[in-house]
Amino acid sequence: MNCDRRKPGRGEVTVLVGAQWGDEGKGKVIDILTEDVQYVVRYQGGNNAGHTVVIGDDSYVLHLIPSGILHEGKICVIGHGVVIDPKALIDEIELLKSKGISFDGRLKISGKAHVIFPYHCKLDELREVKKKGRIGTTKKGIGPCYADKVSRAGIRIADLFDREYLKKRLELNIDEKNAILRNLYKTPGFSAGEIFQEYVKYADRLKEHVCDTTLLLNEALRNGSSILFEGAQGTFLDVDYGTYPFVTSSNATAGGACTGAGIGPSRIDRVLGVVKAYTTRVGEGPFPTEFGETLMEKIRTKGGEFGSTTGRARRCGWFDSVLVRNSVDINGIDSVIITKLDVLDELETIKICTAYRYKGALYQSIPGNPGFLEDCEPVYEEHPGWKKDTSEITLHRELPQNARKYLARVKELIGTDIILVSVGKSRKQTLVYE
Ligand code: GDP
Ligand code: IMO
Ligand code: MG
Repeated sequence: MNCDRRKPGRGEVTVLVGAQWGDEGKGKVIDILTEDVQYVVRYQGGNNAGHTVVIGDDSYVLHLIPSGILHEGKICVIGHGVVIDPKALIDEIELLKSKGISFDGRLKISGKAHVIFPYHCKLDELREVKKKGRIGTTKKGIGPCYADKVSRAGIRIADLFDREYLKKRLELNIDEKNAILRNLYKTPGFSAGEIFQEYVKYADRLKEHVCDTTLLLNEALRNGSSILFEGAQGTFLDVDYGTYPFVTSSNATAGGACTGAGIGPSRIDRVLGVVKAYTTRVGEGPFPTEFGETLMEKIRTKGGEFGSTTGRARRCGWFDSVLVRNSVDINGIDSVIITKLDVLDELETIKICTAYRYKGALYQSIPGNPGFLEDCEPVYEEHPGWKKDTSEITLHRELPQNARKYLARVKELIGTDIILVSVGKSRKQTLVYE
């Protein structure tokens, strides 16, 4: 029986995911990989993402629009798994246009993507400020919008074009949200009429981009085009696999590309993971390998570890091979790209977490019990640093011996191939792992 997955002539599908807690450097890697594809697709999350791409002296931070937009001629798709704040999207389009990026029919938006409304952002903010056990969200309305989607009260991009339906749905939703805002949070509510007027204008602005993106992508594949899926956030922020409840509200893992863009699992040819040479996370939640104060300050400054979306200081820690090994399994990662190796250049010794100790027992993976990651103790091995600037090095074999040993050990521990190593923000600061 011939069950070959890829039919001759069909394009290739690559899914790229963050293998830790986000901000691994996905934007930079997407920018490099875009050269080989015709389509770049976002499939989950929203403008909580911040993907940085540095081209020459210019730096771009993409929040909703796929990073491929910076490459002329590439088609960029926002799939139905993404939640869209239309105002944020229009602002991002305008900003990119003002920097000379031409769109030329290259941005496609799914009509089935759910829309973020001001009441989502307000509820997100109030829950963060007023509730105990805050998540440390980006306050962009992501969680409340996905909650409406799943509870079947959401409003989709296509709904913005059916004025009667939109009006009715908004009134229903706003009645309910206002009751919560006024009674629970003692805050003024929203006017359905005002939001209606505002969103109808956004709909007019976005109309030219809206289409059936599932059909578009499947036809593109049949016609031999290749597609790159740009994951946002990271594996341990995934609503199912992450450090729940300190997660985002979507599936940031590779499977999200299927549910969030309409590509079946059998169409995916490879999954790539972006892995920072150490670990960071923004917001609340467990972080076993988090640094103490002195190292935190040092690495945060050297790595520029401040949020691309909210500007918040990122928490930093040692490389956690247990997490990344788990990530390789969850996503089916075929190979990884290691980023920000240069940030470790000045360290005397570098630690890698190889296991966790919890209640006297050693763990090589993460069991599901609540509190495990909060209370476990990381088991470290120590490696000598290389104390040499790697940011100008372009060949793997020219890296200091200790840097090569560090990478080799990471590769061994996570049990997957490394294909590229990044030693700086720009495209040329990238070397092929040999
Ligand atoms: P993303 O959300 O995964 O796309 O990552 P962000 O853009 O939020 O954060 C990564 C940051 O690290 C950005 O400022 C990048 O310009 C920067 N960066 C990416 N790769 C490297 C690298 O290899 N070395 C250094 N020093 N910075 C990098
Ligand atoms: P990129 O794509 C890092 C974090 C927030 C918070 C949690 C929930 O740039 O890697 P949300 O606003 O999504 O409800 O917040 O998720 N978070 C990110 N952390 N990088 C991101 O995206 C993130 N997007 C959300 O800080 O802890
Ligand atoms: Mg980011």
